[in-house]
Amino acid sequence: MKEVKFYYCEICGNLSYLLNEGGGEMVCCNQPMTLLQAGVTDAATEKHVPFVTRKDGMIEVVVGEVEHPMVASHYITWIACVQGECVKFVHLHPEEAPRAEFCVKEGPVAVYEFCNLHGLWMAEA
Ligand SMILES: [Fe+2]
Repeated sequence: MKEVKFYYCEICGNLSYLLNEGGGEMVCCNQPMTLLQAGVTDAATEKHVPFVTRKDGMIEVVVGEVEHPMVASHYITWIACVQGECVKFVHLHPEEAPRAEFCVKEGPVAVYEFCNLHGLWMAEA
């Protein structure tokens, strides 16, 4: 499975996905960006860990087992599906449902989501 790395700027909020690892430091606003770790924020896991169901070559992702709020001040900004070398994103907006569907192959899948207040979360399915 492809290792995915997300970097966050603590100053401006820019969030970046590392497409190619070149070895240099990720910098934004003149300081190093933070390499995000999934699930390290002290927040309700049942509202943040992606809840994944698989059916007929698709997965449906809901954030989370108890649906996460989707208001302008607190919402899921994107959901990503990683399988092998394939990485897919769905970007979300306030008032939308915190859900996404992805076509997948047989085999393990990692699903990431980002909450604008509570950071990065991940589940494997
Ligand atoms: Fe949250």
